[in-house]
Amino acid sequence: MDSKKISILGTGDFARAFALRAFKCNYDVIMGSRDPSNRSLEVIDRYFSDIEVVDIDSCIKHSDMVIVAIRPIHYSTLSQFKKQLRGKVIVEVSNDTIDKEISNAEQLCEYTGARVVKGFNVLSSWALLSESFGGSKNVFICSDDAEAKTRVMQLTRNIGFTPIDRGMLRSARDIEHTAAKIFPEWISPTIFAWVSFLLFTLWSIARMFMRETIDWSSFPLRRFNPAVCTTAIFLLACCYLPGELAAFFQLYYGNKIKRFPNWLDRWLKSRKQIGLWAFFFATFHMIISVLILASGNPYHFLVVAKYKDYNLEGNITVQVPERYAFYKHGEIMLLAGVVTYISMAILAVSTIPSILERLNWHEFALIQSYLGYFTLAVGITHVLIYGAPWWITLTKPFVLIRSFTFISSILPLTVLFFKIILLLPCVFRPLRQIRAGKEAKFLWQKKKKSKKYFINHEAVTSV
Ligand SMILES: NC(=O)c1ccc[n+]([C@@H]2O[C@H](COP(=O)([O-])OP(=O)(O)OC[C@H]3O[C@@H](n4cnc5c(N)ncnc54)[C@H](OP(=O)(O)O)[C@@H]3O)[C@@H](O)[C@H]2O)c1
Repeated sequence: MDSKKISILGTGDFARAFALRAFKCNYDVIMGSRDPSNRSLEVIDRYFSDIEVVDIDSCIKHSDMVIVAIRPIHYSTLSQFKKQLRGKVIVEVSNDTIDKEISNAEQLCEYTGARVVKGFNVLSSWALLSESFGGSKNVFICSDDAEAKTRVMQLTRNIGFTPIDRGMLRSARDIEHTAAKIFPEWISPTIFAWVSFLLFTLWSIARMFMRETIDWSSFPLRRFNPAVCTTAIFLLACCYLPGELAAFFQLYYGNKIKRFPNWLDRWLKSRKQIGLWAFFFATFHMIISVLILASGNPYHFLVVAKYKDYNLEGNITVQVPERYAFYKHGEIMLLAGVVTYISMAILAVSTIPSILERLNWHEFALIQSYLGYFTLAVGITHVLIYGAPWWITLTKPFVLIRSFTFISSILPLTVLFFKIILLLPCVFRPLRQIRAGKEAKFLWQKKKKSKKYFINHEAVTSV
């Protein structure tokens, strides 16, 4: 059984939070300070009256496991305790990397020669103190010493967190950056989504000037809505295009081991975030549309007015619209919109980690691929029913380019067209063989036979 003794070096924010957590989980905790007599921690929390603060040397001697909760710039001062630390498990918790070449954990290993384990840096002192504090409960652990790592993983579980084994100590270079990064996977997809939205909004303003129908009073909802809708369907199409481009690249290379271009690899890894932004804009579009339809000022193309005769004085009869009803195509268009929205909601929900964990690979592929293409097809039907009848009446191509429904349709229709090409037996069969690991010899490969491949397995597996 693991020893329940823990030594913590430092009396700062992290050291105190870790000490309280471990103490409440029945660990025998001792803290080490440069100036123990002047650290009256019981003033901060009454539990500290049961946690002794001693000098660093005595603290190290107290147990086999030492948590180093001092800032990395002071690690060099620990080299004087090298002898005392020999054979002990040292847990390194820092997240502010000071050397770009190697991690703080590797540096501590160099100073002390001890069995260093990286861990807990992704937890803030608040998260250690409060159960309700937000943030993940996952703790990344890595070390070159398997036994030491197992012990720290057990400690992690004992104090109520989930250890995630990240391999050798070298991984500390990544782990140390994890806590400092803010939504690293979201930055590029978010910029892409909002720049697209901005461009479509600017285009909707430009259209007002081109058509000479400048009416700012209807801009906040009615004229803004096409830009929101176009962004939603454009982003949805952007989720499926990179997978198709990857398939074309594999056909071109004749194998699945050659690395995709970097831009495509990054795009493939951003599909979830782009899809969630598509869902955000679809929600936005749906709410605006409902408001416009409910305002009694609906899209006249979709509705027909039912009139009623009113007799005025002097035997004059006037027809007054009594209510509006949808045309059949208006009803179908709205139904397509609702189905698209529900499908997008299912796609979005299936990416929630707790649901993702319950899906096997085939179920995930079924939802993301088949339901995804279905959503795109129904979404474009929604747009086409609204816009296509009007395109046919146009004679000048430039006027067509001004149409939002036309712009909205270009990319989704291209994506659906590519999908049909990829499903053709003459394309589908060689692609399936390439993905099963075979190398295909097409005419264009024979010419470039001598070229060497750079293999990137990560890029390959991301399709
Ligand atoms: N704060 C957090 O939420 C948090 C979260 C994750 C990771 N961390 C990591 O935890 C470590 C400590 O952070 P902290 O916020 O607790 O820092 P802190 O509040 O500044 O405390 C650092 C402690 O280190 C000790 N110390 C200072 N200079 C020293 C020296 N020259 N030699 C030996 N000990 C020295 C001090 O204790 P004495 O004066 O009693 O010796 C001090 O209380 C850092 O590596 C940080 O990256 C912190």
